[in-house]
Amino acid sequence: MRPDLTVNIAGLKLRNPTMVSAGVLGLSGLSLSRVWDAGVGAVVSKSLGLQSRKGYSNPTIVDVSCGILNAMGLPNPGVKDYVNEIQIARSNGVKVIIGSIYGGSPKEFSEAAKIIEASGVNAVELNLSCPNVEDVGLEIGQDPNLVSAVVNAVKRSIRLPVFAKLTPNISNIKVLAKAAEDAGIDGVVAINTVRAMAIDIDTGRPLLSNKIGGLSGPAIKPIAVRCVYEIAKTVKVPVIGCGGIMNWKDVVEFLLAGASAVQIGTAIAYKNFAVFGQVLKGVEQYLVKKGYSNIGDVVGLSHKY
Ligand SMILES: Cc1cc2nc3c(=O)[nH]c(=O)nc-3n(C[C@H](O)[C@H](O)[C@H](O)COP(=O)(O)O)c2cc1C
Repeated sequence: MRPDLTVNIAGLKLRNPTMVSAGVLGLSGLSLSRVWDAGVGAVVSKSLGLQSRKGYSNPTIVDVSCGILNAMGLPNPGVKDYVNEIQIARSNGVKVIIGSIYGGSPKEFSEAAKIIEASGVNAVELNLSCPNVEDVGLEIGQDPNLVSAVVNAVKRSIRLPVFAKLTPNISNIKVLAKAAEDAGIDGVVAINTVRAMAIDIDTGRPLLSNKIGGLSGPAIKPIAVRCVYEIAKTVKVPVIGCGGIMNWKDVVEFLLAGASAVQIGTAIAYKNFAVFGQVLKGVEQYLVKKGYSNIGDVVGLSHKY
């Protein structure tokens, strides 16, 4: 019998445990549709705020040897205008859409959450890696009290499942996950990009216009696996692993660390949409080879050592 690849994340039923991660492709309804057709279990939108943002000037993305460095500056049309893209994705048959939102305060998050819920998405993901309006230089997601306040505000405003996407740019990510869980979160996504920088040795200039950006891709996978492992041992809510997944072996590693599902971003730049089909085939063959009947059989197995 073929193993069962379906998963249930906080009531969200997925045909398999893969998702495209926020921001990498989800700028339009058509790109969400293309990635759905590639076989993902859920699509995640670009992070959307109350107001539209142009983002930073170029260069905003640099290919470094071990991954991708980006500082986009959260370009997006604003959550109200994005509703149209959700409708396009729906009319193209996309079944599971997660709306990613950001804000500068708990109130902004809850306002954006209400608008994205009304658009008909299936769940909401909170991008907590955004600037804190009250404390210049700090991200909302670096302060456990603010994480708690944001989750509280959003959970009081909407009924959909809410996932908190955590930043690895903090010394103890378990504290963030616990704060989110205590405030009523339905699931945790780990991780967003790792703060990083690259400099041109001929000109001496930082390569990104914003100078500092976020690293994604293979270099951050061991960091992400550690974060998922620590979080899954700390909280009871499901963990969605993200960071540096390039192939099916990486997916299995995240499942073993305690992730119930995974998100894939940078690999699409290297391997195109084909990565999802390859990953699903490899995971299915792994389950068969090991004699497991479903994804849940693998989740968190490393914890017993
Ligand atoms: C070009 C680019 C844009 C991104 N935009 C967002 C975003 O809008 N919101 C968000 O939560 N994460 C964003 N991310 C982070 C990814 O969703 C993901 O957490 C990170 O890249 C690690 O996964 P990966 O190594 O599979 O890419 C972005 C990443 C990249 C490379």
